[in-house]
Amino acid sequence: MKNTNHKPIMLSGIQPSNRITLGNYLGAIRPYVQTADMFDMYVFVADLHAITNTFDPETLAKNRKEVVCMYYACGLDFNKVKIFYQSDVKSHTELAHILTCHTTLGELNRMTQFKDKAKKAVGNGTEMIPTGLLTYPVLMAADILLYDADAVIVGADQKQHMELTRNIAERMNKKYSKRNGGKPLFVVPEPYILKTGARIMDLLDPSIKMSKSNINEKGTIFVMDSPEVIADKIKKAKTDSFNKVKYDKEKQPGIANLMEIYAALTGMTLSDIEKTYKDAPNYGVFKTDLIKIVCDELNKLQARFNEALKIYDSKLVPILEKNAKECSKIVQAKTEAIYKAIGMK
Ligand code: TYM
Repeated sequence: MKNTNHKPIMLSGIQPSNRITLGNYLGAIRPYVQTADMFDMYVFVADLHAITNTFDPETLAKNRKEVVCMYYACGLDFNKVKIFYQSDVKSHTELAHILTCHTTLGELNRMTQFKDKAKKAVGNGTEMIPTGLLTYPVLMAADILLYDADAVIVGADQKQHMELTRNIAERMNKKYSKRNGGKPLFVVPEPYILKTGARIMDLLDPSIKMSKSNINEKGTIFVMDSPEVIADKIKKAKTDSFNKVKYDKEKQPGIANLMEIYAALTGMTLSDIEKTYKDAPNYGVFKTDLIKIVCDELNKLQARFNEALKIYDSKLVPILEKNAKECSKIVQAKTEAIYKAIGMK
């Protein structure tokens, strides 16, 4: 059912599978903050997703809390945006099972993220690929479809999962609308992917995305990295021998990536950046400026993150608990409609 009376619904989430990266910030968290007034917004900590790969419970507990504090640090308004832990709203896993029964093995086997993550797991010395890693995109579809989300803010790497979500919704609408009073069972959601910042690449290997789990941490900027570490990573970022600050993804992928980070953080266009450095003899000044831009932005976030840690138990947890209860209520009618439509009532 399209949501016509209110603002469009936006739902999104981040996995607490490792520390938050600059890619997570630019591709997802910052756009949540920037669009918070446009949407009725649900932003959760995708903790059930974080157990789809090998994990350590102590680290998971720490990372879950850190995602919440990072949402706060980046400026999400806890009184406006519904922020919650996914595992606190039980209907996510309930719907995931129903959707799994409407998804083929072939579809899941085609997911490039599954192939990449499975390859990494094998590379890390394990032959054990959890089944949850394969079915994880269906859990993501359940997260989204449960709330009748119109829009989902994600980085470009989630595009294929969004297509799967849309296919599942359309397939089930076709099959069950008759038993749902002639109305579609699910809203078919649109991915909301920014032009700049939606695909930040690894600094050492700009052919792969910057990720929480890349083997060499030096290619990934973490939001909590110190200024020294950030400076070192940017200084060592892979460039080329053209010595021209030019946006050419094919010939100069490393510089193009650094320019995207620069553009995303300053709001400058890529051609303005090219003009600014047109007379520079090499990449030195550009990199020095970029280090300052990244450090300035992350310094602010780090200060607020430390504030968030202090109020986590007293202020943030009660809000999270209240939100989870509200969300559980909000999705109740939807869950009942789904059960009825598939013949359980
Ligand atoms: P996750 O936790 O891997 O990443 C969280 C968000 O950050 C974006 N992102 C990036 N954006 C730009 N450049 C990068 N290098 C980069 N790396 C990550 C991701 O695209 C994502 O938006 N399956 C999701 C979590 C999820 C979800 C959902 C999202 C679970 N259920 C429902 C939206 C709606 C994931 O693993 O994201």
